[in-house]
Amino acid sequence: MDVFRVTGSRPLRGSIQTCGAKNAALPLFAAALLTDETVTIENVPELSDIRFMADIMRHLGATVERTEPTTWAITAGRLTPHAPYDLVRKMRASVCLMGPLIARLRSAVVSLPGGCVIGPRPIDLHLKGFAGLGCGVSIEGGYVHIDGRHLRGADLFLGGRHGSTALGTVNVLMAAVLAPGTTRIESAACEPEVVDVCRMLVAMGAKIEGIGSHALVVEGVERLHGATHRVIPDRIEAGTYLLAGAITGGDVTVEGARASDLAALLDKLRECGVPIEAPRPDCLRVRADLPHTRRAIDVITMPHPGFATDLQAQMCALMSVTPGLSILTEKVFPNRFMHVPELQRMGADIAIEGPSAIVKGLPRLSGAPVMASDLRASAALVLAALAAHGESWIQRVYHIDRGYERIDLRLQKLGASIERLPAEAMPRHLSAE
Ligand code: EPZ
Repeated sequence: MDVFRVTGSRPLRGSIQTCGAKNAALPLFAAALLTDETVTIENVPELSDIRFMADIMRHLGATVERTEPTTWAITAGRLTPHAPYDLVRKMRASVCLMGPLIARLRSAVVSLPGGCVIGPRPIDLHLKGFAGLGCGVSIEGGYVHIDGRHLRGADLFLGGRHGSTALGTVNVLMAAVLAPGTTRIESAACEPEVVDVCRMLVAMGAKIEGIGSHALVVEGVERLHGATHRVIPDRIEAGTYLLAGAITGGDVTVEGARASDLAALLDKLRECGVPIEAPRPDCLRVRADLPHTRRAIDVITMPHPGFATDLQAQMCALMSVTPGLSILTEKVFPNRFMHVPELQRMGADIAIEGPSAIVKGLPRLSGAPVMASDLRASAALVLAALAAHGESWIQRVYHIDRGYERIDLRLQKLGASIERLPAEAMPRHLSAE
C-alpha cells in the first residue's frame, strides 16, 4: 500500500484537464451489456474501479478490451446471469449490472453489495423498480435473485427517504429499455452522469423521453445495437481541483469543467468570496491568489442540481480555514463525515451535530499523519494537507486511486509538494497501520 507525503502551504498554479466521469463510465460499461454488438466507450478514466467493473463483466461472459489508454470496446455476446460476491463486494456500483442482465437474459443473480464507510448503501429502490416492472425479486444467501420472465413496462416511483437514486435510476432504466410497453419513472435522478447514460442508450436505439428531468418515459424496444460514446467530464474531479486552488490561495484552471454541472459549487464558492472565472465554455479558473475576503457559509447536500454530496468533504476542508462558523449538512448520506476526525488531527475545529458539521474556520491547519477512508474523505485530506503548514502523511491512498487518476502527479504539475511512497517509507512512529 502506498502513502502520500505532502508539504503544505504552497499555492497551486497552472492548468489541468479533467478526465472522464467515473460515475458515468461505470453505468455506461454496464449499459454495453444490453446489446450483442460492440459498444465503444471513449474518454474512460484510468481508475481501479473501472478495472474492477471490466473484470466482473468478463466474468459474466463479455469481451471487455482496452483498445487505447482511455478507450474500451465491449462486446456482450453470450452472458451468464451470475455476479459473485467476491467480485461485487469490491465495487458496489456493479449492482447496476442487474438491469442489463434482466433485460438481456430475463434473469439476474447478483450478490448484495454490502455497505461501505459512508453508510449501509441499500438497494431497496432498485429492487422496488424491478418488481414494479413485473420481476420476481428474492434475497437468498446474500444474493438477489431476479426472475424477469414477465418483464413489462409500468409506472414507477423511485424516490426514497433521501430523494432520488442515481444508480437506482439507471439500473431500472436499463431493464425498462427492453421491457415490452411503456415505462414511466417518476422521481428519477437527473445527475449529469444519469443523463450521459440516457444519451448512450438512445444512441444504441432506446426510446427515452424526459432526459435530464425527474420524469423519464421509456418505450420498450426489441433489441439495441452497438454505438460509440464519449464519457462526459468528471464534475467531482473538476470541483475537487477547483477547491484545491481555493484552499491553497492559488490560480488553477480546470479544462473540461462544465459550469452547468457545478452550478451549486460555484454558487457556494462565490458566496464564500472565492474569485471564480469562466474564461470559455467547459473551462473554470479559480483565482484565490487575488485579494479577496472569505466568509463562512451554510451548505446542504442534495440530489442534483443541489450541492453534490461527493464535494461535501472537500468543501469541509476549505471551510476549516475560512473565517467564521460554517455549517455543512449532509442530506444524501447522513453519516458521511469520515474526514472529520482526520481533519481534526490537523487541527480543524469541527463538531458533528446530527447530519451537520459545524466548522469554526482557523487561520491555518498543521500537517499530521492521517488515514484515508472513503474516496471523497481522502480527497479532503489531500486538500487540507496542501494548505496545512508542515508535513502530512496520508495512508491507504488506494482509496483515492479509485476515483482520481494519478492525483499526485497532477497536483505536482500544479506545483504541489506531494509524493507517492511505499508504506515502508513512512516513519514507524507516525504510522497507524
Ligand atoms: C452514486 O451512488 C455515486 N456513485 C456516488 O458517488 C454518489 O455519492 C451518489 O450517487 C449520490 O450522488 C456512483 O455513481 C458509482 P444514490 P448511488 O443511490 O447511486 C439512498 C463517489 O464518491 N438509497 O443516489 O449508489 C442512499 O443510501 C460515490 O463517487 C436508498 O435508500 O447513490 C443514499 O442515501 C460515493 N435506497 C441516497 O439514496 C436505494 O435503493 C442517494 O444514493 C438506493 C439509494
